[in-house]
Amino acid sequence: MTEALLRGLDFTGVDINPLAVLVCEAKAAIDDGANVEGAAQTILLAIRADDAFSVDVAFPGLSKWFDEPAAVRLSRIRRAIMSVEDQPSRKVMWTAFAETIRVCSNSRTSTYKLHLRSPHDRVDADRITSVFEANLCQTLQRIGAYRTLIADRARRSPDIQLICDDVRRASVGRPGSVHQILVTSPPYGDNGTTIPYGQFSYLAIRWIPACDLHARAKPLTASTHSLDTASLGGSLKEARSKADKVKGISPSLDAFIEAADADGRGSRIRKVANFMADFLEALRHLRETSPGSAHWVLTTGNRTAAGLLVPFDAICNEMACYLGGKSVASLHRRVPGKRMPSRNNMGAMITSETTTVVEFA
Ligand SMILES: C[S@@+](CC[C@H](N)C(=O)[O-])C[C@H]1O[C@@H](n2cnc3c(N)ncnc32)[C@H](O)[C@@H]1O
Repeated sequence: MTEALLRGLDFTGVDINPLAVLVCEAKAAIDDGANVEGAAQTILLAIRADDAFSVDVAFPGLSKWFDEPAAVRLSRIRRAIMSVEDQPSRKVMWTAFAETIRVCSNSRTSTYKLHLRSPHDRVDADRITSVFEANLCQTLQRIGAYRTLIADRARRSPDIQLICDDVRRASVGRPGSVHQILVTSPPYGDNGTTIPYGQFSYLAIRWIPACDLHARAKPLTASTHSLDTASLGGSLKEARSKADKVKGISPSLDAFIEAADADGRGSRIRKVANFMADFLEALRHLRETSPGSAHWVLTTGNRTAAGLLVPFDAICNEMACYLGGKSVASLHRRVPGKRMPSRNNMGAMITSETTTVVEFA
């Protein structure tokens, strides 16, 4: 999104995760000139003036993930942000709040899953306000840097569409567009054992008021797992018929499934075939709803399942070619150090990725 806006290109973004969409709405507000400095002033004054001890949210697991003094401090910050009248500016402020929740909850920052920290690793409630202030300060600095970059943007302000929906049915087409560039890093599949983005966002989403989140946020975060179940590869309903539908499309996927079947690991890679069927459905929908000339830029990581390497880079490329694309480039790189958690049970895939470029004439 940022790269498109810097170039003055219209942008459509789709993600099923309401927090991902909120972050993009915040970026749109920044691009549109929201008065973030004014909002920050209002918030800092409101936090200082608030000495109430109420806790303003209630959700399953609240007392597990936040001790009461922490919930009191976070409620003061939440009330302060809610006192900002301008919704676009408020959305920017929620991103600094979400990061504060990530750092200050009782869930570990070293894993995407909700996992309790040991007591000596917890952030003292007295530090929460200063963690938020530091996040806010960094946000304002980055906004300043971004606004310098767009100061002499030649074209009119780009048009931005943000959609919180399942990419398999979202209406992402842009009538009249000359050429489409689709850029995505799809999930790895099998959210439970790879990266559960839903669990990762659950606490922040439950702290942010519903009025500032997409309406889908409520059902999607009914439990810590709902969002991951709704995501690509998250539901095994009709897994067998879905796996049949994906046969004969990607030689690399067929070979992977045959190899797993041959040494008795077929049932253990059922989730992989299930995810690939969902992923193909997403690509097919994207192509059918935007049939014109396009470049697709797809970044994938190869994880292991049942001890076998899943060649997602090749599968992705073959699926895009099956839909009429021509592979024009493929780049492999080691992923530089990430701010995000580095530990999970995929090991190798986290450290390298492949970007495939496919052209549709
Ligand atoms: C590796 S992240 C990449 C995010 C980034 N927006 C991109 O496309 O490069 C994968 C993203 O896919 C999203 N996702 C998973 N299943 C989805 C679905 N069915 N519809 C839309 N987004 C989905 C997740 O919420 C997550 O944000």
